[in-house]
Amino acid sequence: MLYFYFFSFFIVSQEVNQRYIDLARRAADDLKRGLLQVLLEEIGKGGYQNAISVCSDMAQEITKKYYQEKYNLYIRRVSEKPRNKLNSPDQYELEILKKLDKMNKDGKLPKEYFELVKEGERKYLRYFSPIVIQPMCLPCHGEEKLLSDEIKSFLKRRYPEDKAIGYREGDFRGAVSIKIELKEE
Ligand code: HEC
Repeated sequence: MLYFYFFSFFIVSQEVNQRYIDLARRAADDLKRGLLQVLLEEIGKGGYQNAISVCSDMAQEITKKYYQEKYNLYIRRVSEKPRNKLNSPDQYELEILKKLDKMNKDGKLPKEYFELVKEGERKYLRYFSPIVIQPMCLPCHGEEKLLSDEIKSFLKRRYPEDKAIGYREGDFRGAVSIKIELKEE
């Protein structure tokens, strides 16, 4: 299901929109796939304990160095309850995350969500690809009783202000957020 809101008055042809939307979709899927692959590989190599330290070292770098540069656009993961403060949403993203969380609670989470917004004279596509908690996320994001002592002490050391635990399967965790400036053709 697609949601399409016009915040201000302007018209961009459907054809142009679709091209940007396809690009955002491709980048979001790619980032999700890339991070999941690293996670699974590292769990395979040395369990969750190994994976958490690798993800902690690499998640930011993979997102920035690889995906931002590869697609040359604003792309990041954001959450209302971030583990890493660098993944805190901006004001606009926070509103959307709240909306998506509610949709998820109502059983109506879309696969993607986007809006065209205007900032001053510039127009942007803001695209969100929701992230939902699966069973394999729980050893690092689940309720405290599901976390091993090693994971808990790692989190305490590395992320003293961690907010990203206490989740259950199916909970809305956050989103890949993409912002692309729409240029006149
Ligand atoms: C091995 C432990 C581990 C597992 C398993 C894990 N994560 Fe994480 N997750 C982390 C760490 C560590 C970070 C912080 C990365 C950083 O510093 O940017 C993180 C950050 C995130 C973020 C970015 C927002 C934030 O809180 O900083 C999202 C979204 C996320 N995880 C979703 C998931 C989902 C969904 C799953 C399951 C598919 C999952 N994680 C599985 C350790 C894990």
